[in-house]
Amino acid sequence: MSSLTQATNAKYDSLVNNLIKNGHIDRQESRNRSLTRKDSTMSHPDDEPEETPDKLIETIVELGIHNKDLLFLGKLQSLQSFSIIIRQLRSLENVQLSSAAQISRRKASKEADSASGSVTPPPPTITINCRENTKDVAALNYISNHLDTASLRTVIGHVLDALRPQGYFVMREHLQGSASGDNLTDKFHFRDPSVTCNMLNSITTADGLHGLQLISALSPDPVGGQQEMTWLYQKVAADAPAKQLQQFLDAQQYTKKGILKYEQIFGDRFVSTGGARTTKEFCQLLQLQRGQTVLDVGCGIGGSGFFMSEEYGAHVYGIDLSSNMISIGIDRRRTGGFHGVDFEISNVLTREFAPNSFDVVYSRDVILHIAEKKKLFEDIYNWLKPGGKLFITDYCCGVKEHNPDFQEYVKQRGYILLTVPAYGKLLEDVGFVNVRAEDRTKQFIGILRTELQNFEPQQSEFVENFSQEDYDEIVDGWNAKVKRCSAGDQAWGSFLAEKK
Ligand SMILES: C[S@@+](CC[C@H](N)C(=O)[O-])C[C@H]1O[C@@H](n2cnc3c(N)ncnc32)[C@H](O)[C@@H]1O
Repeated sequence: MSSLTQATNAKYDSLVNNLIKNGHIDRQESRNRSLTRKDSTMSHPDDEPEETPDKLIETIVELGIHNKDLLFLGKLQSLQSFSIIIRQLRSLENVQLSSAAQISRRKASKEADSASGSVTPPPPTITINCRENTKDVAALNYISNHLDTASLRTVIGHVLDALRPQGYFVMREHLQGSASGDNLTDKFHFRDPSVTCNMLNSITTADGLHGLQLISALSPDPVGGQQEMTWLYQKVAADAPAKQLQQFLDAQQYTKKGILKYEQIFGDRFVSTGGARTTKEFCQLLQLQRGQTVLDVGCGIGGSGFFMSEEYGAHVYGIDLSSNMISIGIDRRRTGGFHGVDFEISNVLTREFAPNSFDVVYSRDVILHIAEKKKLFEDIYNWLKPGGKLFITDYCCGVKEHNPDFQEYVKQRGYILLTVPAYGKLLEDVGFVNVRAEDRTKQFIGILRTELQNFEPQQSEFVENFSQEDYDEIVDGWNAKVKRCSAGDQAWGSFLAEKK
């Protein structure tokens, strides 16, 4: 097991320990509900071994959820593995997948349709008999690949009702990597992670009082196999504020179209200054070694991670709160045949990694979005191994009094900017040593001008794929950055630091 998998399991460990500490809440009346599905088969899209309890099951079982209520929805046809699970999960109860009804109605329907010569699979029924607010954990293992989005939404709504408040929802599914929403190949439904994320964020209990809050959604490097995602959510009050930053990033700052548009000027797989060129330059400072583990905070669509893995043989754990970014990153990983990068949708401010997990923490033009910089640097210090390195580039502000245009720009973007010296001092205050805080504003201006020069010849192709308005917005935006930097309002800093 890799140290990163261990770190991830450590996270699950602490979640489960919390579950064990918390008592059960009062149980309420049982309710029966049913759902009609359109899909007719429940076989697995992959030829995975049926009899070996797999990673998700291992995670749930090994972490010792004894005497806790666990609702498990698994593969209907893998009865053998289902019985293994039933044996292992002593408290499993109240799970009813109506396979018998499914089969009998399918036969009836075939007969009925034979007159017209067509066979239409009838909608089978999933019934969940479960009391509300009773389950500590609910797990859906590959079930979602058999349901269209509307049906999945209904199932998860029922599952959410069954979970107790603060209970955990785990869902593992296969991804195909499509960047454009629902994609049904034959019998199986492969959803783009940003579609699933939006769906999970918007589901509430029947009474509307509770919803789901993201903890993490991990898509490990598939190492040649099929890409998958394990979603981990918690049942919280529907009006819990934590979703706002993610919604802002996905719906405003980094829409899918916006990301693809900016990639045109930053360069393939990058959404930050200088793209591959600055990545190469800064990675040299880090003297990465083969096998080192890197946490890429705000990894975007994966350019830095792919580079570090390919050039240095590092293993990169890329986290980003934007589901759009991670969806595109996973797609790039699949289509580009990249390895060595795990992607995770999560908020770096709430994510917990085990202490001493990483050799390097790397972050490019991300922390401008984050107000709680001190807390973040303390966490990063903790996550780094002794002697580990931190490298950051970030938008900063100049030391002079700022003019109103700049203040308006910062406000409108929701940025929280420090001067380069204040940034460096904060890192020292947290305990980092050998802190090198460099004002790279001149380099930034040079890069912006080069990016513009390289972008202009692509105008007609860009306009074909996007629009003239998009083109003008980028050119105006780049010129405005040059102006703000030249006036001393905006700055760009790099920060290299070490843990003692
Ligand atoms: C300018 S983009 C840079 C992306 C990437 N580092 C690159 O170089 O291409 C900033 C990224 O920070 C991410 N981000 C902002 N706040 C975050 C948070 N609290 N947790 C994780 N990622 C965050 C955004 O979603 C976005 O992908």
